[in-house]
Amino acid sequence: MSFDRSIKIAPSILAADFANFGAECSAACAQGADWIHVDVMDGHFVPNISFGATTCAAIRPHISGVMDVHLMIAPVDPYIEDFAKAGADVLTAHIEAGPHIHRTLQAIRGAGMKAGVALNPGTPAHAIDEVLDLIDLVCVMTVNPGFGGQKFIDMTSKIRTLRAMIGDRPVHIEIDGGVDPTTAPLVAEAGADVLVAGSAVFLGGSVSDPAPYGENIRAIRAAAEGVWA
Ligand code: DX5
Ligand code: ZN
Repeated sequence: MSFDRSIKIAPSILAADFANFGAECSAACAQGADWIHVDVMDGHFVPNISFGATTCAAIRPHISGVMDVHLMIAPVDPYIEDFAKAGADVLTAHIEAGPHIHRTLQAIRGAGMKAGVALNPGTPAHAIDEVLDLIDLVCVMTVNPGFGGQKFIDMTSKIRTLRAMIGDRPVHIEIDGGVDPTTAPLVAEAGADVLVAGSAVFLGGSVSDPAPYGENIRAIRAAAEGVWA
């Protein structure tokens, strides 16, 4: 996984057909997805349950790009090895999930993955001041985590602060929640490079008719890249 700040579109399979995850991942990749975003929820840290490491392992062969696993679980540490074995490239833990984010990030890198830290809308940018050299990605939640299809919460000021804090470090800024062709330019202009989108990618298509996924991905990418035109 090489580092660059170009716009990456990361469809979230939370909005895909749960009976067809493998085919949905292949279709999204074939239609231009750069990363596949995989939302793991435990019904404890967030008020919803999705799936776990076994599902990640099952879909891994169907993903040609980066498998980006977003853990919305607490605790995190007992499961890190399982997600490494499942083939996660990036493993992101919430800073709010426990008192030992520093140890968690060390353990994620120690298990051979890129380490991400996610910030809920109510958590300030400076909460990660002391772990900036331990991360490869910061995920700025633009909804309260737990469900797809929620309304975008404007976090552009936090994104700008993070961009300045990161400086020259090879750290991605990922945005998760309510990203579509309208909100993508706001976050790209503020400094984001990885755009997660569930509803806005899987809208209108299916595994038997995946062309709309491609149109949706291209629309989000064009809107985000338009900022620099
Ligand atoms: C929310 C998840 C998101 C979600 C995004 O807890 O982390 O990844 O799937 O869905 P949309 O793009 O529909 O807001
Ligand atoms: Zn997510």
